Amino acid sequence: MKVLLVGGAGREHAIALSLTRSVHQPRLYCLSEMINPGIKKLVDSSGGEYFRGDINDPEYVVNVADKIGVDFVFVGPEEPNFHGVPDRLEEKGIPCIGANRAVSELEMSKASMRDLQWKYKIPGRLWYKKFRTYEEAIPYIEEYADSIALKPARQAGGKGVKVIEDFQVYLQEDKRRVKREHAESIVKEYMKGYEDTEYRLLIEERVWGPEYTLHCFTDGKSVLPMPVVQDNKHAFDGDLGMETGGMGSVSCGMNLRYGIDDERSIITEEEYKRSVDIVRMMIEAIQRETNKKYHGVVAGQMMLTSVWGPTVIEMYSRLGDPEAGNVLTMLKTDLVEICEAIIGERLNTIKAEFDDRAVVIKAVCPEGYPNRRELAKGHPVRINIDSGTGSILWASAELTDGKILTGGSRIVECVGTGSSIPEASLVAERLCRGFSLEDGWKVFHRSDIGSEKFMERRIALANMAREIYQYRERKGLLGKRMMWIPGKGLIEVG
Ligand code: GLY
Repeated sequence: MKVLLVGGAGREHAIALSLTRSVHQPRLYCLSEMINPGIKKLVDSSGGEYFRGDINDPEYVVNVADKIGVDFVFVGPEEPNFHGVPDRLEEKGIPCIGANRAVSELEMSKASMRDLQWKYKIPGRLWYKKFRTYEEAIPYIEEYADSIALKPARQAGGKGVKVIEDFQVYLQEDKRRVKREHAESIVKEYMKGYEDTEYRLLIEERVWGPEYTLHCFTDGKSVLPMPVVQDNKHAFDGDLGMETGGMGSVSCGMNLRYGIDDERSIITEEEYKRSVDIVRMMIEAIQRETNKKYHGVVAGQMMLTSVWGPTVIEMYSRLGDPEAGNVLTMLKTDLVEICEAIIGERLNTIKAEFDDRAVVIKAVCPEGYPNRRELAKGHPVRINIDSGTGSILWASAELTDGKILTGGSRIVECVGTGSSIPEASLVAERLCRGFSLEDGWKVFHRSDIGSEKFMERRIALANMAREIYQYRERKGLLGKRMMWIPGKGLIEVG
């Protein structure tokens, strides 16, 4: 059996490990822009071949797949989906695990995703307004008295999302200025080079609560849900600093427990079920709207909010990174068999099993990431880790003449496992300390992810949001927004 993996980051290293663990012992081929050292090793040992090239060029991907004579292609990242790579492969009769262009709209356009959620009245929907230009958005930004989230209307590598709060009245003028500047930078900077969506900017109501990612495999007929993972986007400890692609992620059991033998959890079993229902409804809605089947992975990047309980923040048309490392480390079922079931549209015959152990992933990054990537690129990596403690996933790292050079983004993702999240976090932490750069350029990682304090805070936040949404639910107010108007009293709006 021959499998072509498209993409070369940490997520694809996790997919490669999972595919090569299969009893079917596939020959692994990979196509990516940089040679990932971890995937290269697996490709070589399975007898496959590594191709370097443009993963977003459908003709090129089809040619490589054709030349190899693959049994199927697994597309890792989102951009090939947005560029129609799965569509072109299927037109040529090459089976593919990857969302086609039409259904990947769920991720590509946050505006379309919200339109769909409101049209089909799917729970967990936020108020929003979409704009074609920055100028159109200004009156709303100026007048919106409450806190808002400003977002690029297209998926732009996870960049540009900002929540701006309006608590201090005396700072209102400054906050308006910051909002205007950020909206302008979304349109002019983060959306630069992306001319493929009608809307450029999105304003959403601000919500709070713990975030989590729920991935599902789907063959377009049924969904196979995976364990919930919690990714942490901010660059520094305590959720401070710029938003990144993800600095580290935690998981344990299906619903983010503290530990195997510890009942505390971020999400309850009931909230897990509701989250799966929401993702299922999103798949059904996009398929109905586009008349296209969804073959691959879909994920709800969700938040447990006081308004709705499980709420959709964004959707992914692929596995998250680093979240892929969590779910695929936990997956006990053969990934090749899951892929074959998706291709044959008989996913309902697979009973997937996941390990209950805690998995914590921490990314080691070169200084300069995420906003000065040109400075973060090209530094030789030095490794000093004990074998036998955890494992690693190479991410933005390039194998060149026997050396591993930083690619400008997250270098490596350190994977710790254990009987509780804090225990797994210590394993990942030890691994992180084994990475440095030979030329003295600094690296950083988040030491707080998965610690006892971190878990206690996330659980406390979940409990606060839960108390409020459950109260709303008891009163029949779930998802409803009430406004007090003088002379009229409390009225439902929206
Ligand atoms: N971890 C965030 C993402 O995959 O986009």
